[in-house]
Parts: sequence; C-alpha cells; structure tokens
Amino acid sequence: MDFYEWYDRSLLEAHQHNVPRHELECLILSLLGLTKLDLRLRSLNIKAQINSELLTKLDQAWQKRWRDRLPVQYLIGSVIWRDLELQVSPAVLIPRPETELIIDLVADFVKQSNQSLTYQNGSWLDLGTGSGAIAIALAKTFPQSQIYAVDLSESALEIAKANTCKNIQVNHQQINFCLGNWFEPILQLNLQNQIAGIVSNPPYIPSLEVLNLQPEVTKHEPHLALSGGDDGLDAIRELVNTAPDYLISHGFWIIELMSGQANIVRSLLLENGCYSNIKVHQDYAGIERFVSAERI
Ligand SMILES: C[S@@+](CC[C@H](N)C(=O)[O-])C[C@H]1O[C@@H](n2cnc3c(N)ncnc32)[C@H](O)[C@@H]1O
Repeated sequence: MDFYEWYDRSLLEAHQHNVPRHELECLILSLLGLTKLDLRLRSLNIKAQINSELLTKLDQAWQKRWRDRLPVQYLIGSVIWRDLELQVSPAVLIPRPETELIIDLVADFVKQSNQSLTYQNGSWLDLGTGSGAIAIALAKTFPQSQIYAVDLSESALEIAKANTCKNIQVNHQQINFCLGNWFEPILQLNLQNQIAGIVSNPPYIPSLEVLNLQPEVTKHEPHLALSGGDDGLDAIRELVNTAPDYLISHGFWIIELMSGQANIVRSLLLENGCYSNIKVHQDYAGIERFVSAERI
C-alpha cells in the first residue's frame, strides 16, 4: 500500500468513526514533518519521502487514535493554546480553548482597576496548574509578577516546568512550582494576605459523570483533573472558603466551572461573606463558564 492508498483508507475510517478529518491531517503533518499544502495537493514528493517503516509508524498512531480513542494531542505530544505551544501527555489535562478566555478576563480586570500596578507586580496563584497553561500565560501577561503554580500531581508539575522553559525565555524563576493539596504549599510559604489574584480551572465534573464522558476523556485524561467529587463542587468549595486567608484586600478571584454551576458558586461566595463584586462570565459559546469576585 502506498501513502495515498493508506490516506484514502484512513479518511474513510475517520468518517466512519467520527474522528474529525483535521485530526488525521494533524497526525500526518506532525509525524511526517509535512505542510498542509503538500497533503492537499497530493504532492508526489510525499510518496517518495515515505518508506514502509514510516507508514507503519503512522498507521500505528492512527489506529491508537480511532480504535483506542487516544486524543490526537497526546499522540503528537503538544497542543497550541493561546500563543503557547505546550507539551502534553496523559499526565495532564489537554488545555481547552474555552479556558483561554480566563486570561483575558484577568487582564481586563487588572486594566480597569485603579490599582493596576498592585496586580501587575503582585503574586498570583494558579491552583491546579496541570500543563502550566494558565501560569505561563499569566507570567507573560504580567512580566513583573510572581506566579505560584500548584498541583497535586508530581508528573503534571514536571510537564508544567518543561513548558515554562520552552515558553518563557527571560525569567524562568518567575513561576514557582509547588507540589501539594490546593493551599497547603502556599501556607508553608507563609503567603497569607499577600496574594493579588487567584486563578483556577479546578476539577469540577461530578465523579459519576466523569465515567460517561466521551471515551477520549474518560479513558485517557487524568481523573484527578476532572473529578470534583459527588456534586462536582469539592475543589470549588475549598477555593471559595480558603482563598480569603491568602488574598490581599481587593484581591481578585476567578475560576472556571461547568454549565449549571454558576449560580451555586455565586451563592457560595455570597454566603462566605468575604467577597464583593461577584460576576458570572460566559464563554464564546454563551455558557456561564467563569465566576469572578474580589476579596473585601
Ligand atoms: C481541570 S485541570 C486544569 C489544568 C490546567 N490548569 C488547565 O486549565 O488546563 C485541574 C488540575 O487540578 C489538579 N488537582 C486536582 N486535585 C488537586 C488538589 N487537591 N490540589 C492541587 N491540584 C489538584 C489536577 O492534577 C489538574 O492538573
């Protein structure tokens, strides 16, 4: 079988098994180092370039994609998120496009604040950093800030560190990586009342629902990154209740959540009594995806 016979057969498999065509293309381009134009024009160069060994390797990866439902980002080992190229493996959640907006919401808040410099030069927490996406984007948005990136998973932190080295050229020390349970490492650093902002995309899916998501997610993404306990709110409650001990006065608090949780989180913040300026923000699909607040 030559490359184009394999390609046509794989396009059919993609269609039959509901794998987007661009994922097949992405896999080919990444593993063979080709351009999209080469592929679209069915360039004869490709045929000459690909020996049977390479074709077997490509086919094995493709089988993992559609038979095992392994996400293409894990097969390629990277994802583009905002302006960052991030390494990913099954040790970390694949950063989602909707999460990109949380950085813009933080930047808008800081821009509009009359204490803008306090935030730009302050300390920020990214709780549950995973691949480091949020921490790195924050560090690039506020180059004078200090970021503390916390995760309970040691292997996730290794990936976040590698992503920092790759994406932050000037000052790698700007991000401090902390292994541990939510605020525990921050307590050890004695950072009470010193944090300008807390940003988090915590695990927020009810545990039973995690078992019934699409197989790419349920079978391959870390459940530590997904499962928020029986009602999905375990981590969120911790973030609501403990953050006031760490935030400065008017410190910013923002988290991502899932459809249907915004009103509950708004109530939790109100009940807590330490927050003002509570706001719900939609993502580009119109879903109530983020809640922000300020420490009184
Ligand atoms: C939804 S993922 C978010 C990853 C990344 N911030 C993003 O937006 O792509 C949640 C992260 O929280 C981490 N996590 C789960 N429980 C934790 C805990 N008790 N303490 C600290 N991090 C935790 C997971 O390991 C995972 O990396």
